[in-house]
Amino acid sequence: MTLQIGHIALENSLFVAPMAGVTDRPFRMLCRELGAGYAVSEMVTSRKELWGTLKTSRRANHDGEPGPISVQIAGTDADMMFEAAQYNIDRGAQIIDINMGCPAKKVCNKWAGSALMRDEPLALEIAEAVVRAALPHGVPVTLKMRTGWSDDSRNAVTLARRFEQAGVQMLTVHGRTREQGYKGLAEYDTIAAVKAAVRIPVVANGDITSPEKARDVLALTGADAIMIGRAAQGRPWIFREIAHFLDTGTHRAPPLVAEVRRLMLDHLKEHYALYGDYSGVRTARKHIGWYVRALPGGEAFRTAMNAIEDCDAQWRAVAGFFDTLAGQMDRIPAAAEGELDQLDEQAADALA
Ligand SMILES: Cc1cc2nc3c(=O)[nH]c(=O)nc-3n(C[C@H](O)[C@H](O)[C@H](O)COP(=O)(O)O)c2cc1C
Repeated sequence: MTLQIGHIALENSLFVAPMAGVTDRPFRMLCRELGAGYAVSEMVTSRKELWGTLKTSRRANHDGEPGPISVQIAGTDADMMFEAAQYNIDRGAQIIDINMGCPAKKVCNKWAGSALMRDEPLALEIAEAVVRAALPHGVPVTLKMRTGWSDDSRNAVTLARRFEQAGVQMLTVHGRTREQGYKGLAEYDTIAAVKAAVRIPVVANGDITSPEKARDVLALTGADAIMIGRAAQGRPWIFREIAHFLDTGTHRAPPLVAEVRRLMLDHLKEHYALYGDYSGVRTARKHIGWYVRALPGGEAFRTAMNAIEDCDAQWRAVAGFFDTLAGQMDRIPAAAEGELDQLDEQAADALA
């Protein structure tokens, strides 16, 4: 049976995680093309005065994106979150996701995101306000959270029950506390406890980096779906690899160099079109770095590419890198199990 969020049926149970500064529309569309069944937008602030800014309008860009269009909102004030939900629904959001999952700074000049888990009455007030805004439009509300604020305060289960009663229709749980940031290993027992405590779909998130890990996390948590963030950076085909493994128990061959070349060059074109020349060349660097990091000559190429200040030259350099690689191998090497990147400077900026 296909997974549903409220009345909306999803293509499969493999989701790409919202990542500010990463999961913009071009990257979400690429993940969808490569097997993700659902993608949530980067968070949009509930601060009205920022809705007209270039950053927020780029985040609100859904041109040509396959549905459902899911917009994540972040903030610390219930009335503002009510308005943010309405505003985004008026602009085409079909699902509203509340951010109580990421260590977002400076949203509303206060700690938002997972920091809200420490203030249960406020967290609940926000969930109720957003449901009140969305329900009359038939728009389901979902919520993303962590396992709790800290080791001593793992309140995800308590909150999950309350959110369900408030009308939230799906919960995603990242298996870390707010205090952990991105350090340490994700734990899945609390996610399993949340799944056992509610009837709405639960999505497991955190440190899923391989088809085997995906299988194990699904088994450990009993979750209805899994959500993948950092492991999809530079490797958006991870979704079809996981889908293949879950279906057949065997590994799909890694992509051909020629296919990655095409995907990447198309991705870059979409990226430049969204960000324009100046920001485009700069913000594309992290994606290119992720794509090439595990490839022969990747590190040297990344350093050289970072000095290029022009989209056209960057695009040609990437094409050239993959032409050379195609002379050396047919397929890119299978991904090695590895450490996930810590949140880097650029990403921290995007979250601020
Ligand atoms: C660069 C970056 C940006 C993120 N931005 C958001 C965000 O806007 N909203 C959110 O709920 N979580 C955000 N997260 C958290 C991810 O959605 C996810 O919960 C986390 O990375 C754990 O999953 P992973 O181990 O698969 O990466 C972000 C994470 C990263 C690395």
